[in-house]
Amino acid sequence: MPEAYDPKKVYQQHSQESAAEDWEGYQMGKATLKYGSKNKKQRSDDYRFMFDFTVINNLDKQLPSEMLTEDKSRQKSAFQMLQEDRKTLPIYPYHHNLLQAIEDYQVLVIVGETGSGKTTQIPQYLHEAGYTKLGLKVGCTQPRRVAAMSVATRVSQEMGVKLGHEVGYSIRFEDCTSPHTVIKYMTDGMLLREIINEPNLASYSVIMVDEAHERTLSTDILLGLLKDLIKSRPDLKLIISSATLDAVKFSDYFDSAPIFKIPGRKYPVEIHYTTTPECDYIDAAIVTVLQIHATQPPGDILVFLTGQQEIETAEEILKHRMRGLGTKIAELITCPIYANLPAQLQTKIFDPVPDGARKVVLATNIAETSLTIDGIKYVIDSGFAKVKSYIPRTGMESLLVNSICKASALQRAGRAGRTGPGKCFRLLGIDDLANFDFIDPPPVESLIKALELLFALGALNKYGELTKTGRRMAEFPLDPMLSKVIVASDKYDCSNEIITIVAMLSVGNSIFYRPKDKKVHADNARMNFHLGNVGDHISLLRVYNSWRECNYSTQWCHENYIQVKSIKRARDIRDQLEGLLKRVEIENKSNPNDLDSLRKAITSGFFPHCARLQKNGSYLTVKHPQRAHIHPSSGLAQELPRWVVYHELVLTTKEYMRQSLFLSVDIWVGTEEFVIDGDYRRPVGVVLFNHSDIDFEVNHGDMIAQLILQKITTPEV
Ligand code: CDP
Ligand code: MG
Repeated sequence: MPEAYDPKKVYQQHSQESAAEDWEGYQMGKATLKYGSKNKKQRSDDYRFMFDFTVINNLDKQLPSEMLTEDKSRQKSAFQMLQEDRKTLPIYPYHHNLLQAIEDYQVLVIVGETGSGKTTQIPQYLHEAGYTKLGLKVGCTQPRRVAAMSVATRVSQEMGVKLGHEVGYSIRFEDCTSPHTVIKYMTDGMLLREIINEPNLASYSVIMVDEAHERTLSTDILLGLLKDLIKSRPDLKLIISSATLDAVKFSDYFDSAPIFKIPGRKYPVEIHYTTTPECDYIDAAIVTVLQIHATQPPGDILVFLTGQQEIETAEEILKHRMRGLGTKIAELITCPIYANLPAQLQTKIFDPVPDGARKVVLATNIAETSLTIDGIKYVIDSGFAKVKSYIPRTGMESLLVNSICKASALQRAGRAGRTGPGKCFRLLGIDDLANFDFIDPPPVESLIKALELLFALGALNKYGELTKTGRRMAEFPLDPMLSKVIVASDKYDCSNEIITIVAMLSVGNSIFYRPKDKKVHADNARMNFHLGNVGDHISLLRVYNSWRECNYSTQWCHENYIQVKSIKRARDIRDQLEGLLKRVEIENKSNPNDLDSLRKAITSGFFPHCARLQKNGSYLTVKHPQRAHIHPSSGLAQELPRWVVYHELVLTTKEYMRQSLFLSVDIWVGTEEFVIDGDYRRPVGVVLFNHSDIDFEVNHGDMIAQLILQKITTPEV
């Protein structure tokens, strides 16, 4: 991998070289991509941190399958093999120094390449060193659910214990821990909720904030809170770990905490670029996969795409083309991986493939740093990622497909060189690469927005303290707006229907299935669930209820183009929400025919997402004027009501509103759900207020408020 990354330079160098360096590509299907490669001689330096460890790593690939059966002696040796593996990780030679540093300092920032062993090893070292004595726990946070689950699984194997016992994980809607758990992996959001219930984290001896470079809002809030908390818990150790070099920022924030660097180990990765930019990068990726499969030596392939839908499409096409090739070509096993993929399928990416076969992992940016998959030798980089980015102009967090930044491009390429020399194929045009830029959301601003939102929802009072509503909301592992919808349903006597809707919304955009060759059928099936001009939330309720009436039938799902896995997950979530209703003493009441009540409940959470119809058929959001369109698949696409509230604004080429809900203004003007702001009188009130409305100084009462307040008054991070 080049040390200093200058794509233009690399490209020019390449074009001066002879065509012998070119990899000709393999004629297959309709297209062949042509790649240029970089001069090999320049890379000798990259061998610096190379250890002789491939031999040991390969051993586990040679393990006979009966290793995993009841033969005791062999089982032991499989376990020993894992112990051997642990010792080959780059972090291992430093583990004594690392423990010493943790002992010496309360806060330590740790930086190390992805795959060096930070996530899996550090909590184990701490456990072995006695940090979990006296029933205390080591907690390790992850920005992503998938990472928390898969890492906990791996660590439980390395420790030879059952997952959920000594080693467990906790993610939204799923708690896989027990009273014996000493190493707990969890999403940062889950630790935030634990802090609400246990403000001094008394049951933890160490908290490791992992992947801190990802800088999600939860991570940022967590860091602010922990900064405060460690003052009253001098015995609590805090570790901030990051795969990139912005460690200095974290160190500064924690009063110049020391930085512990774990030297990386990298093999050279040849970078190949398409000679012209590829506009259809999915197709380009597929062609490249097949080219590699047909022409290149063994080694698995990792493809970076932007999201679930793209991954599913790519998987479908890839399987189709492989079938077309019949037995002429070795087996290719496709494994998708994205945040919403059910757990049992997620682990598939780690399974070794049969002899002679090759694995291709189709991933989102989740595989950049959060997950390490062994055996990857080829990386195909679309150059894009879907990122939740904060748009200061509108004050919204949106999912945007964006060119990835330079750091991500390097990181992705690096995935190919973990266990041996590799190759990375970049599909994006050179010009775009030159424009790479970091997306660095301004955390202070987003925190103010978060506070503003909580205030508007009635979760915080003007002193920044949690209100009764806020406390009830905090019980639900949901975004505040969704929690508010549930809490509000109490008042409208429709909690039974509302938890269904919320569960369906929580599954993400994957309820409806739309196969390429049956789009018309799928769209028609979907239309059947729409009810007049009410809105898509109600359609979701109708989908769920129809499924329930058919005894949760799988056949019914197939007939109606509903994703079985997704709707089953909605059922699980719904069950849990039902349990939580009891906890906050909301009666489970059904009011199925009163659509106004349902809409009112939804509106009391989603009023900040309100938009008004314009003359040209588009919508303008009220709070921070932004143009958007109702998606053609919405039940409101024909009706175009005057006012809508939307679930989420996904900005794509045309700024579509994904889930829209019709809202009749007349009913609600002046009611509690629509506070009309003094300065901006509008027919529909959306809480618009100044930060000066909230008295930041007065509060010392509540943890959440405090942490947000602290972040606001400490603008440096
Ligand atoms: O956190 P960091 O990126 O530094 O590394 P890690 O996640 O602790 O991974 C260290 C090693 O553990 C990887 O190289 C994999 O071999 C292995 N691992 C695994 O097999 N399965 C996982 N789910 C996670 C890690
Ligand atoms: Mg890690």
